[in-house]
This record gives sequence, structure tokens and C-alpha cells, in this order.
Amino acid sequence: MKTKPLADQIAIITGGGTGIGRAFTEALAGAGTKVVIASRREQVLRSAANEINATLGSERVFPHAFDIRDRAQIEALVGDVLERWKNIDVLINNSGLAVPETAEAITEEGWDTVMDTNLRGVMQLVRAVLPHMCTNEFGDIVNVSSQAGKHGYADVPSYCASKFGLLGYAEALRDHVRKTGANVRVFNFCPGLVDVENTRPDQMPRPGFIHVCNMARTLMYALSLDRNVVLEDINIYAR
Ligand SMILES: NC(=O)c1ccc[n+]([C@@H]2O[C@H](COP(=O)([O-])OP(=O)(O)OC[C@H]3O[C@@H](n4cnc5c(N)ncnc54)[C@H](OP(=O)(O)O)[C@@H]3O)[C@@H](O)[C@H]2O)c1
Repeated sequence: MKTKPLADQIAIITGGGTGIGRAFTEALAGAGTKVVIASRREQVLRSAANEINATLGSERVFPHAFDIRDRAQIEALVGDVLERWKNIDVLINNSGLAVPETAEAITEEGWDTVMDTNLRGVMQLVRAVLPHMCTNEFGDIVNVSSQAGKHGYADVPSYCASKFGLLGYAEALRDHVRKTGANVRVFNFCPGLVDVENTRPDQMPRPGFIHVCNMARTLMYALSLDRNVVLEDINIYAR
């Protein structure tokens, strides 16, 4: 099976300018990967890219504004990355949000926002990226689900539905790449609470939360495994 050093790889990280996504971006860019960070707020993306590139002394992070709910914007993102670099080696489906509401008070607007962002958007993005990974005989797809994709919580029913759904979709995707023999791995993160406010290495996470650096370290570990290793759901949370 084809292998490739991280320094020769191209990654797309949705939501890569903030929180967990930013920690992933810093880790991959630090290993030499070119990372396209994509979400709605262009200024947030641009600042993150500038800061990380300045720290590394090299242009490795590239901002791209897009809304994962819009198919045309998904195709534009994938088209731009392929035009520039020909490959997409790593796709990290990290963008996501929750709209707090109960099963009784839930609104159409709330569940549409959550499902379109956390689930439908991911399926559309994977559909656009996967054929290129298959043609290039190399790829990793990393999905950020949640402990709310394993357990139900009354205050976020649509979020739970989307994150459970994401794991189901990922299992189908893994079965697809197995059946087609594609050199594409599919990993899922199922984090509990991750502190995305106290993110500096010297800062302590709030009680009950893990430091975001543990997400980045686990990503790098998962990607370092042999190409034939199947690592399914990574349950990671504070004790
Ligand atoms: N922090 C936790 O405790 C925790 C626990 C379990 C799972 N998670 C999951 O981890 C992932 C990252 O969350 P986080 O905690 O790091 O929070 P975050 O900083 O708010 O990250 C969410 C990212 O999603 C992007 N996003 C939201 N809507 C989007 C859209 N329509 N199109 C494109 N991008 C969109 C946001 O960027 P823009 O606003 O610029 O679009 C943002 O960068 C999420 O999927 C979340 O569900 C987090």
C-alpha cells in the first residue's frame, strides 16, 4: 500500500481556524503538511493562518472561506485545492455546532442548522473528495463526532442525532473503502469536553475538560499507524 510522508501531504481541515481544528492545524502544519483551513469567517481563518505561518517561519496554512451547508461552496473548495496541489491526502471533518434545545422545544431552524452542518455537509464534502483520494490511491478521512455521538443528552437532541449519524455514515464509508480496496482510512474522534478556551500549552484545562493538545497528539498518533490498521472510534475524555 502506498505511503507518503506528512511533509508531502495536503490536508483540508474544516473549522481549522479555531478550537480543536486549530490544534489539528498546528500539529499537521508543524509536521510539514500543507493545510487548507476552511470555515465561514474569513478573518478568523486569515488570522489563524498568519499566526501559525509566522510561528513556523513558512507558509503551510492556507485560509479558504466556505459554508459547509452550501454544495457550490464545497465544490469550489475542493476544486481550488486540487487546482493548486493536485491531491487531497487528509480530510478532517471538524466543523460542527450545537443548538441547545429540548426534544419538545426543538425548532425546524435549529435542527436544520445542526444536521446540515454536522452531517449533510460532511457527506457532501466526502462525496467531493473521496474520488480523488481513490484516484491518487491515498487518503485519510477523520471525523470529529462526540461523546454525544455515543450517549444521548436531553439538552442537545439534534446535536446527538447528528453526531450519532456521523458515526453511522463513517461506518458505511469504512465498509465502502474496504470493499473497493481503496487505500483510504477512516477515523472518528468521540471527545468528551475539550477546553477550547485555555489552549496555550502552559494553561490548565477547566475541571472535567481535557486540554486541546491531547486531541492533536492523538491525531498525529492515529495518522502514524500503518496503512492497513483500522482504528475506529477514539473515545477521549477527562476522568
Ligand atoms: N469542545 C468540545 O468540548 C467538543 C466536544 C465534542 C465534540 N466537539 C466537536 O468538535 C468540533 C470542533 O468544535 P470546537 O469545540 O473546536 O468548537 P469551535 O471552535 O466552535 O469549532 C467549530 C468550527 O466549526 C466551524 N463551522 C461552524 N459552522 C460552519 C459552517 N456552516 N461551515 C463551515 N464551518 C463551520 C466554525 O467556523 P466558522 O464559524 O468560521 O464557520 C468553527 O471553526 C465540532 O464538530 C464539535 O461538535 C467539541
